[in-house]
Amino acid sequence: MTKRLLRVLNGERLDPPPLWLMRQAGRYLPEYRATRARAGGFLDLCMSPELAAEVTLQPLRRFGLDAAILFSDIFVLNWAMGHAVTYGNGEGPRMPPIRDAKALATLRLEHVAERTAPVRDAIRLIARELGPAAMIGFAGAPFTVACYMVDGGGGDFHEARAMAFRDPGFFTALIDLLTEGTIATLGGQIEAGAEVVMLFDTWAGLLPPRLFATHVTAPAKRITAALRARFPTIPVIGFPRLAGASLASYAHETGVQAVGMDTQTDPATLPPGLAVQGNLDPLALLAGGEALVQEVAAVRRAVGARPHIFNLGHGILKETPPEHVSRLVELVRAG
Ligand code: CP3
Repeated sequence: MTKRLLRVLNGERLDPPPLWLMRQAGRYLPEYRATRARAGGFLDLCMSPELAAEVTLQPLRRFGLDAAILFSDIFVLNWAMGHAVTYGNGEGPRMPPIRDAKALATLRLEHVAERTAPVRDAIRLIARELGPAAMIGFAGAPFTVACYMVDGGGGDFHEARAMAFRDPGFFTALIDLLTEGTIATLGGQIEAGAEVVMLFDTWAGLLPPRLFATHVTAPAKRITAALRARFPTIPVIGFPRLAGASLASYAHETGVQAVGMDTQTDPATLPPGLAVQGNLDPLALLAGGEALVQEVAAVRRAVGARPHIFNLGHGILKETPPEHVSRLVELVRAG
């Protein structure tokens, strides 16, 4: 029996749709907070196969979702290249800014396979416990990772966005390096047991169309083609957040099997046969009650006859009561 999530990614429409949630493992769950405290730092949690497997499986045990997403982070890739990424308590990730060829030359793809071995071990542990759920591997897309790398952390990404204009040679070299690294790291996740991979391009919508084509669509196309050549049956979900009018052409040009829709996306703007994932507003899940009932119905109506994976339009918020997630699962499963 093919897993329900994989059937939809192969273009089948299922009723009720398979369901998982971005950031389904995380601080809104008391069991996550307990494991996180046991691990010490966030990177220690990501790099402990047993603990990363444990937190990956926590939301599946509680809610019976249709997919497990590897518990890791998009900065594991540049960390594994030798970039000194740190996660302070509550203040978000920080890293030394990479703004010239000399800084870029300190980062090494050769270290990635060895330093990410614990991630592949975690996938092997998770794969044993999956049951009917599918295993999703992931990476940050090159542009979004580059935003944080150039700025040195989160914010408005003015440094990175100015760099794309000021020094296109450097910026393209960074994107190319991350594209290679992403192909390698996702290939490793698939070899370890990931059945689907997702590319998170959280900040894709910050780029004007010409740069969106070179720094978002082109790398996603290269990554998808390279993975397709090595692993023809493994679907790729692309999530260029806030891509707006560029989402349909992204889907067409990259060859991804499905697109993630952010909360602003109207599925009517996408081709009828394209598999789509999303896009309940995480704030409707936070609100719960009758608003949640209405919004779940609205998402299902808007998607119409497309192959659909029910999800949020962005990650679950840490203030979300776990009971609202249980209610969401009931509502989606009730059809
Ligand atoms: O979805 C999942 O359950 C899988 C795990 C996952 C994490 N990060 C765990 C995490 C995934 C898929 C990500 C992706 C990610 N990481 C993205 C793209 C998706 C998105 O949300 O836009 C981005 C931009 C990041 C970068 C990142 N990691 C930030 C900005 C932060 C700090 C913000 C925050 O929520 O604290 C992180 C840390 C992080 N990654 C946490 C988790 C559960 C919180 C760490 C903690 O426990 O303190």
